[in-house]
Amino acid sequence: MTLNLRLNKKHLFLIIVLSCIFACLQKMPCFQFMGSGKKTNITILLWYWPFHIPYSLEDDICLKHYSISGCHLVDNRRHYLTADIVVFHQHELKIGSQTLPLHLPRPVHQRWLWLSLEAPQNNGNLNQYAGIFNLTMSYHPGADITVPYGKIKEKDGETDDFVTPKNKTHLVCWVISNYKTYHKRTRVYQELSKFIPVQMYGRAVRKPVNQGALLPTISRCYFYLAFENTESPYYITEKLWRNAFMAGTVPVVLGPPRSHYEAVAPPNSFIHVNDFDSIGTLARFLKELAGDAKNYKSYFSWHENYTVKLYADWRERLCNICQVYDKLPYHKIHQTLGA
Ligand SMILES: *[C@@H]1O[C@H](CO)[C@@H](O)[C@H](O)[C@H]1NC(C)=O
Ligand SMILES: *[C@@H]1O[C@H](CO)[C@@H](O)[C@H](O)[C@H]1NC(C)=O
Ligand SMILES: *[C@@H]1O[C@H](CO)[C@@H](O)[C@H](O)[C@H]1NC(C)=O
Ligand SMILES: *[C@@H]1O[C@H](CO)[C@@H](O)[C@H](O)[C@H]1NC(C)=O
Repeated sequence: MTLNLRLNKKHLFLIIVLSCIFACLQKMPCFQFMGSGKKTNITILLWYWPFHIPYSLEDDICLKHYSISGCHLVDNRRHYLTADIVVFHQHELKIGSQTLPLHLPRPVHQRWLWLSLEAPQNNGNLNQYAGIFNLTMSYHPGADITVPYGKIKEKDGETDDFVTPKNKTHLVCWVISNYKTYHKRTRVYQELSKFIPVQMYGRAVRKPVNQGALLPTISRCYFYLAFENTESPYYITEKLWRNAFMAGTVPVVLGPPRSHYEAVAPPNSFIHVNDFDSIGTLARFLKELAGDAKNYKSYFSWHENYTVKLYADWRERLCNICQVYDKLPYHKIHQTLGA
């Protein structure tokens, strides 16, 4: 008798617990696709193009270009009611050329995504967007979707061998279009050029270099100043990934702390401004390193095992949302943006 009663209580308890779990799962969209696997038809609506530069989205672009299936990337606002995610790029909101469609009713399951690849200091006032967005996308590892400017990949054997450019004609080069005396990078440049010659290029010095000529130009320099416009955690841009690594020069970096570079860059591939107690010491180091062929070459040995993957196309970044779709938070509302 007592045994039976205990069993019954146990059963009852189990039944209650199981029904609760079941009821919860039913309500959570992340489990709605259980059984059928991942959600297979995701619509991502780009409300307007970043910097107002449109690209073609024809022919199932995510599948054709990036081998991502079931990812419907659109830029036509008539898809609003069926869009799973609507993407808003911060720059246009900041300059006021675009506004959020706050007057439109939001479909229940739709999430709004805030996108910016700028450092927080350059995003403008974000307080006005508290409580509006469900997802964030930026280079910052704390974003819901992290989109770095580049990354390293292990070589798969098929990739071409990298040849270090040999014909170096300049010690240090800097390509600069946005020259501001208040930027820390400008003060470092000015100080550095007291000790060693720094070859300048770019609009700021009326020596513009077009995209096609950029890497060949930089490849002629022993060192390239990969100086970010803003020092901000994790903010490492194409200045490192493309301009330096792909050109075959050694980057001298100024940006987040060394540990943030070490976390993403190849080993022994860069020189950090903060490694030196003075700019004079840095200058002496660069001069000596350029004259020490063996040591200089060691900064390129990572090419043996790694290659650089650049992320430069908005479409690739947006298609990649589908790849992480099932892992994205659901009922999230961001009160602060920009990590
Ligand atoms: C995917 O969803 C969109 C919008 O809901 C719809 O127009 C389209 O027909 C769907 N495609 C497939 C293959 O299910
Ligand atoms: C090296 O660069 C100079 C220009 O500074 C050019 O005249 C020369 O042809 C180059 N040499 C090689 C081997 O590419
Ligand atoms: C590249 O990988 C091979 C095999 O793991 C290793 O022996 C070699 O030391 C690596 N090269 C560099 C420069 O780390
Ligand atoms: C998205 O955020 C809004 C608040 O701005 C909220 O009302 C809505 O429930 C959220 N939607 C989802 C699917 O998380």
